[in-house]
Amino acid sequence: MWTLWLKPRDNTLANAPSEAYFQPSEWPDRWQNRSDNNHRPDSLQEGAVKALGATVLEDKVAYTRETARHWFDGKLGLGGVLATTLPQRPGRPDLPKLIPPQNIKRRSLRSEKGRFALLHAIAHIELNAIDLAWDIVARFANQGMPRSFYDGWVRVALEESKHFSLLQERLAELGGSYGDLDAHDGLWEAAQSTSHGLTARLAVVPLILEARGLDITPSLLEKMDEIGDHRSARIFQIIYRDEQGHVAVGAKWFRYLCLREGREPAAAFQEMVRKHFRGPLKPPFNDMARARAGLTPGFYRTLSSAGT
Ligand SMILES: [Fe+2]
Ligand SMILES: [Fe+2]
Repeated sequence: MWTLWLKPRDNTLANAPSEAYFQPSEWPDRWQNRSDNNHRPDSLQEGAVKALGATVLEDKVAYTRETARHWFDGKLGLGGVLATTLPQRPGRPDLPKLIPPQNIKRRSLRSEKGRFALLHAIAHIELNAIDLAWDIVARFANQGMPRSFYDGWVRVALEESKHFSLLQERLAELGGSYGDLDAHDGLWEAAQSTSHGLTARLAVVPLILEARGLDITPSLLEKMDEIGDHRSARIFQIIYRDEQGHVAVGAKWFRYLCLREGREPAAAFQEMVRKHFRGPLKPPFNDMARARAGLTPGFYRTLSSAGT
């Protein structure tokens, strides 16, 4: 059975308000030693759009950190960029090549190549997650949501960029880099059908896609430890802990919006998933972690392919 032995988040670092959100010791060294004061955006939305549009991944992470730093230090307003001017697709480098999901090669985790492929695939998911978090911030900045809603999503974007950077570093330690293997565009495509509505977006991104991460990460973590790759296991621990927080941000604000719209949250979730998400949800579910994040079985059981 896997165990989680990370220390809880340290929220006592009070000098700059942003410090509590950064967990500096968890970042790769090269990021720990960089200042986040090079590009101060004029608003949160402008910072979000800049990070979203960055094609150089180093810049995407840098803009994410800088925007988060200034936002949490209370130096940015929300901004007034129109959602219609947002990029249709996030900025990306030329590689990896995007191919249909069914054409992605499956390899055993026991082989060196298989392990690299898994880490590469997770890095790709984390990169998408940075863009998905910023897209929520930028696209839905004019919805009359409280400031703490944006705090939640800026934190998600920041942690996704930490996850991506950790995996980038791990791929380099294994002699390769992100972009070496093909990837697919399924995550971004799944989110795009909900560009029109925040409630639907929260149903699909944090409550389906990120919740799925909670189901599969513990067994990956365990496998990495079993084959002796403790460095990768440690990264999965960080991801697993943080992702519970991401699902919690999604569940909290999904319920808030349902309340505001006079809808019953579980029924609204099921309706939106049927409308905007292709196919059933795949069991087994990590009910405990999901429930800790506020996503109780009443939301998703009836949508499962097992039909229970
Ligand atoms: Fe992540
Ligand atoms: Fe996440």
